[in-house]
Amino acid sequence: MQGRVARAFDAGWSLRQPAPFGARARVADSSDLLARALAILNEEVKLWQARRTADAWSGPILTESKADRKFKVARKAKAQSESPGDPAHIVSVRATVNGAVLSLSLDPRSSLLDVLREQLALTGTKKGCDHGQCGACTVHLDGRSVVSCLTLAVQADGRRVTTIEGLSPPGGALHPMQQAFIDYDALQCGYCTPGQIMAAVTCVSEGHATSPEQIRKYMSSNICRCGAYVGIVAAIQDAASKMHGA
Ligand code: FES
Ligand code: FES
Repeated sequence: MQGRVARAFDAGWSLRQPAPFGARARVADSSDLLARALAILNEEVKLWQARRTADAWSGPILTESKADRKFKVARKAKAQSESPGDPAHIVSVRATVNGAVLSLSLDPRSSLLDVLREQLALTGTKKGCDHGQCGACTVHLDGRSVVSCLTLAVQADGRRVTTIEGLSPPGGALHPMQQAFIDYDALQCGYCTPGQIMAAVTCVSEGHATSPEQIRKYMSSNICRCGAYVGIVAAIQDAASKMHGA
């Protein structure tokens, strides 16, 4: 993890590699939404830690242990005590998503990725690892790339979210980066492509596309299991000249 953080700072990716929760809480000082979300998450962490402490066996879990059962019962009791409409567990968030101002009621624990996909049906943003490791879920928050699986939806309150669906106007020409990915055959299965394109756009707009080495470094947190990296770098170089010329 240390190495990843160091590389992130080295490449100026503080937003792409989210800081620990404590550090991120400072970003939302103006709102209590994040504090509420963190309080609920902390409760869950305590439950999980209690389960780990109670579970003496540290090897692979082949059968459900006593501690597992206790954990599940505690979670179920907690869930039952929270009615779905409990205002303590539903928050209102107002965000601009792909140009549309939306008011959302959501569980403060929801990730931005889940809200985009499950609540707003914006399924262009992909869920790969759900752990901040693959970059498939990259979207823009106020014009900066973030991994939406590690971004709480409440962090989008009052901010601008852009997904792959909002990168070019409906019915209009493709964004130069989208066109370049097609022209340079920079994909195979396409699963990583929305995240690659969103990251590639900020790679250029933030000035990290002046050489193939710089592009590779910036893009290294977006994994392509099909190995389309050569085409991706070529596409970014081509789009960079068009974006700068725009
Ligand atoms: S799904 Fe978010 S980084 Fe992999
Ligand atoms: S094109 Fe298949 S994972 Fe990248």
